[in-house]
Amino acid sequence: MFLKNNKIKVGRNDPCPCGSGLKYKKCCLGKKVPGANSLKELYFQKHKIRLKGEKDIEGIRNAGRLVLDTLDLVEAKIRPGMRTDEINTLVHEFTIKNGAIPAPLNYKGFPKSVCVSANEVICHGIPGERVVVEGDIVNVDITSVLKGYYADASKTFCVGTLGADAKKIVRVARECLRLGMTQVQPGNTIGDIGWTIQTYAEGQGCSVVREFVGHGVGFEFHEPPQVPHYGRKGQGVRLVAGMVFTVEPMINLGKKDLRILEDKWTAVTADASLSAQFEQTLLVTEDGFESLTPF
Ligand code: MF3
Ligand code: CO
Ligand code: CO
Repeated sequence: MFLKNNKIKVGRNDPCPCGSGLKYKKCCLGKKVPGANSLKELYFQKHKIRLKGEKDIEGIRNAGRLVLDTLDLVEAKIRPGMRTDEINTLVHEFTIKNGAIPAPLNYKGFPKSVCVSANEVICHGIPGERVVVEGDIVNVDITSVLKGYYADASKTFCVGTLGADAKKIVRVARECLRLGMTQVQPGNTIGDIGWTIQTYAEGQGCSVVREFVGHGVGFEFHEPPQVPHYGRKGQGVRLVAGMVFTVEPMINLGKKDLRILEDKWTAVTADASLSAQFEQTLLVTEDGFESLTPF
């Protein structure tokens, strides 16, 4: 439907690329939106989404490679008895050594360089004195800024031998990300991603966190669009080549509800059930997607 150089090539009867659900001829085709003569301009005007070009994608891909190397480093070092603050030190020093900046540090007041979220912590865990123990599941969420470009990815690590519940939530969360990614292709919508994830997670008796969503990324930490991990097929913005956003479902073993601790950051499950998450930064391509943080 959309081809090279961000020029619009849409049939009069095709769905409008702005995602309205109307036919192109009934929507943007007739409109004299000043300057909206390329998909790039149209998406910025309609959705505040900044489509990425070749040079940007290369930059985000390089940042993504560093994020993956950092995750590998943590995976190699994580062990029972480790304080979560030691993970922060590892991530911080490795990031700086590689000429990058840890995006979380001082982001809206976040005090550390990485989010470390164990067991009932859904996300935004602040590294500190908490000690990781055998049987824990620990999400480590890394965002690095390299030469001005952001990439964002996370994995839930398994510490030693897991119990059945922990095994299950890690498996379901990983599968949610994988299934969500299968929906990332031009012509699909943001809602297709969420619907696919929610359907699978709830089918497994788990629940999807609503308060935190995937997001555009690359020029900034969090850009439009928002990418909910729940929703309806066909709803929301239509995906086009050049969009870069994360998919990062947070899946709870119990109910979906959360509460935020006194520190104003740490999100925990309201029922204290286990929660797991995996995240990648994805580029929409002409024929599907490319992960810029592939694992
Ligand atoms: N990395 C998280 C995300 O996936 C955001 C963390 S914000 C912070 O969007 F301030 F807690 F670092
Ligand atoms: Co993210
Ligand atoms: Co993240």
